[in-house]
Formats: sequence, structure tokens, C-alpha cells
Amino acid sequence: MKGVILAGGLGSRLYPLTHVTNKHLLPVYNKPMIHYPIATLVNAGINEILIVVSGPHVGHFLGILKNGEELGVKHLEYAYQEKPDGGISDALSLAESFADEKPICVILGDNTTDADISSAVSSFKEGATVFLKKVPDPERFGVPEFNADRKIIAIEEKPQKPKSDYAVTGLYIYDGKAFDYIRELKPSDRGQLEVSDLNNIYIEKGKLHWAELDGFWGDAGTFDSLLEASNYWKKNK
Ligand code: DAU
Repeated sequence: MKGVILAGGLGSRLYPLTHVTNKHLLPVYNKPMIHYPIATLVNAGINEILIVVSGPHVGHFLGILKNGEELGVKHLEYAYQEKPDGGISDALSLAESFADEKPICVILGDNTTDADISSAVSSFKEGATVFLKKVPDPERFGVPEFNADRKIIAIEEKPQKPKSDYAVTGLYIYDGKAFDYIRELKPSDRGQLEVSDLNNIYIEKGKLHWAELDGFWGDAGTFDSLLEASNYWKKNK
């Protein structure tokens, strides 16, 4: 399977750090943030990767990652998201030709985890898989609602009253239909093509699967979560 890392967006929650460089190149303990999602993919046996980038510092990616060989990547491609804050599904749409109608494993560039997703990757057949993690602050994330059989019946993006204490993490596996579904999406109230809306289409089709992430998971998109991630990786490098 191929992998896609979404590293667009403006990183506005991390100003003024993101005046210096792109959010995904900021340090998480002793490495640039994007090294972590790359390692998650490489450890799952994925070594063909597309990175979607945007914003004023895009050139820095090439200088830091080069062809990705030092990180175990065999084939590294970049795509440029024209509307930097168009949303996660907008960023993902740029991976259509790279995916070539086959399944892809997608990670948000500000997510770091030590979970091993290789069995979910190797056993994936069709539809979509989302990875969940129990969190104390679900209102910061996409939040699943379960029925009595523990099937996800809806995902709400940043709900005021979360229907479970799980976050939908920024790790996903999609089949080739994702790109047709993204074409059906309308911008949300914040003007973005939301990943939760894409996942809700898979729910409507009865094709959304889920797995729980085993291990540490966190985003690093705010000052507090960036510090938390750095502290975790300092102890667990
Ligand atoms: O971290 C998990 C959460 O990530 C999920 O629970 C949410 O459902 C999902 O919407 C997302 O929420 P955030 O508010 O944290 O997303 P954020 O805008 O911070 O974007 C996360 C990453 O996605 C960012 O580091 C790069 C990528 N991205 C984001 C946007 C808005 C893009 O590549 N392009 C974009 O236009």
C-alpha cells in the first residue's frame, strides 16, 4: 500500500513559530515533526509516500527530507495544496493520481504515535478504516457515536457535547472510492472540506471500519499538545 501525509494547512494555532518554518518541520523533541508520521508508515511496510504541502515555507521540506532515503522511504513525492486551509479532504484530493485507484494509508502530518498499524494495513480490503483513541478532551477532535453493537453510526467534528470519549485520530485507510466521495463534499461552516464528512459518507455506505490505536497518540498542532508530544518522545525515544 502507498502512504499519504497531509502537511498543508496554515498552522495558525502555532504562530509565531510558524512564521519561522512550516508547522510540520518544527521540533518534536529531537526530530522535525514530520519524521514521526513517516516512521509510522515505514514501520508498517509503506515506502512509497506522497506529502501534501502548502504555505510560505514549502521549500524547507525538500531541503530537510530530500528523497526520503535516510528515513527508509523508497519513493517520495510532493503535492502542493493551492488553498492552504481548504481542509483535510481538499488536501487528500491531491493524492488521486498517486493512489491510482488503489487503497492508501493517510496520516495527518501533525500526528505522532508509536502504535503499530501494520496488521490493519495488510488486512485492509475495502471501504475505509479509522483509528480511534480514548481521550480526556474529545471535543477537540472528530468524535464517533456508537450503536449498541459498537458500530460507528456518525462522526461529529469538534462537538460541544461529545457522544463518546474517543477521538478519531488522524490516521486513516481509504479505498479508491474516497476521491469520488470527496467530489461530493461541500465546505463546512469554517469553509473547509472536512475529513469527518468524508468518513460519514463511508458510514452511510456501511463501509466504515474502525480499530483502536494501541500506544501513545497525540497531535502536535497547539502549544500544549506540541509540548506534550515532545515530553512523550523524550521519555520514549
Ligand atoms: O488530529 C486528529 C484530528 O485532526 C481529527 O480528530 C479531526 O477529525 C480532524 O479534523 C483534524 O482536526 P484538527 O483541527 O486538528 O485539524 P487541523 O486543521 O489542525 O489539521 C491537521 C493536519 O491536517 C495539519 O497538520 C495538516 C493537514 N491539513 C489540514 C488542513 C486544514 C492539510 O494538509 N490541509 C488543510 O487544509
